[in-house]
Amino acid sequence: MSSEGLWQSAVVYQVYWRSFKDGNGDGIGDLKGLRSKVGYLSSLGVDAIWLNPTYPSPQGDHGYDVSNYFDVDPLFGTLEELKHAIEEFHHHGMAVLLDIVPNHVSSQHPWFISAKEGGDGNEAESRFIIRQGKGKSGGTPPNDWKSVFGGPAWSKFPTEEGRPQRWYLHMFDECQPDLNWENPEVHERFDRILEHWYELGVDGFRIDVAHGLYKAPGLPQIETFAGNWSACWDQPEVHEVYRRWRKISNNYVPRRFLIGEIHTSSRERLLEYVGEDQLDAAFDFSFLHQPWSAEGFAERITENIQFADKSNSSPVWTLSNHDETRHWSRYGTDPDGKPINIVEISTRYRSLISLMSALPGRIFLYNGEELALPQAEVPDESRQDPAFFRQPPESDYKGRDGCRVPIPWEKEGENAGFSTLEPWLPMPRDWHQYSVDSQDEDPGSMLNYYREQIRMRKSNEWMGLGEVSQLRSNDGLLSFVKSRGQDRVMVALNFNSKPMRMPEGKILFRSGSCFNEDRELQPGELVFLILHEGV
Ligand code: NOJ
Ligand code: CA
Repeated sequence: MSSEGLWQSAVVYQVYWRSFKDGNGDGIGDLKGLRSKVGYLSSLGVDAIWLNPTYPSPQGDHGYDVSNYFDVDPLFGTLEELKHAIEEFHHHGMAVLLDIVPNHVSSQHPWFISAKEGGDGNEAESRFIIRQGKGKSGGTPPNDWKSVFGGPAWSKFPTEEGRPQRWYLHMFDECQPDLNWENPEVHERFDRILEHWYELGVDGFRIDVAHGLYKAPGLPQIETFAGNWSACWDQPEVHEVYRRWRKISNNYVPRRFLIGEIHTSSRERLLEYVGEDQLDAAFDFSFLHQPWSAEGFAERITENIQFADKSNSSPVWTLSNHDETRHWSRYGTDPDGKPINIVEISTRYRSLISLMSALPGRIFLYNGEELALPQAEVPDESRQDPAFFRQPPESDYKGRDGCRVPIPWEKEGENAGFSTLEPWLPMPRDWHQYSVDSQDEDPGSMLNYYREQIRMRKSNEWMGLGEVSQLRSNDGLLSFVKSRGQDRVMVALNFNSKPMRMPEGKILFRSGSCFNEDRELQPGELVFLILHEGV
């Protein structure tokens, strides 16, 4: 398949490497561990992997605080090893995406160290956003923007004795100073970074905070505390950066893929980022955040397909990642937040991967979702996420550790086969039950269900490609027709907690546990119905 073809309907697997597999027994996932699981990923049938940031980093925000963009963190392995891993993935027909972090660097990045150590007004300072504080002594931050992780977005910057205090901007943790994209040197540096990795065979990038980079001129006072981020994100100048990155990415064969993590105030604004001259794709967070509802899903699917048509791209579907509560737990409760029964959760969960598999475009899976991992309980004293530590006292937000707990590989192994040492985040005691080896043996396991769905999607073009029509929600039943060439299949999903009559058509596949001819769609169940015998 050409790279264009691959990316049009790829199944991409996100590897949060710290939690994937530890190969050297220090409790943290690494390249050795990842390389030992290439076969596993190949047996899952994914087309590509996305690796969370692998660069040297003090790990203040688990890799999203980069201190050197040209190398590999020793925690993870070496540059040579990463090169070999990329070759291995390619050999098995899988592409490799890295994560690039252009909005901010680590406070240990040499640029920030020289800015801090170079004396007031030194040249290196112009790579960051540094301003004098308010008031005579500069003791109040330049504006009251808050950090996405909570608390102020400004921290004190070294200032000469007797002069008003200066501050640097960090939209995330204080270990992540924002770069000043008004400085051409920053552009040049990122051009080099892209080229460096492309030359090593990397197939593209997931761009972190792609809507960031520029801030509104004058850094106006706005109510970020009340949810207004208009001056901090999504400034018009950012598109010039992606036009430039597009050109660089097109210089390689196959042409490299760019997908943005982009949060904007509307889909119209999101459209500005995707298209032939900028990014190939953007994640659709409104699909990910959609609660369990036929109507809601129908709207999100319609919007996302329209979005892709307008931007001349293909949609992206994803339900979990390293920042969000695992979707097993999100969809496992009723509207009042009470847990629903396990059979129904499991049916819903199977239906969701089948639904995504039958939609046109790319699917991004998050490691462990194929094992039906729930959000883990992490005791407060074991938490690691900087976002947890920056919460105001009244907040009940616990941060993102619960979706980052390591993967259980073995039923009997120490730490469920993840590591010989205590993992960096504690694994719940009962996680052995989800282990890969036990699910491997069980034909009815979630792992085998995912494998089967991915295999089915690959061997049936009507699933990953093709047109969606007659999309509707009716009394809690979501349905649409998917067509490609001679094939016409109706996809129907029962969002109700009671059985529903199935629409007409010959049953091709159903997500429920009873594989029979019964025409009742169980709560949460999905069915593919043949409307035309091309299938
Ligand atoms: C989004 C990443 O997904 C998240 O994990 C990180 O903390 C922030 N960007 C800051 O880089
Ligand atoms: Ca390790």
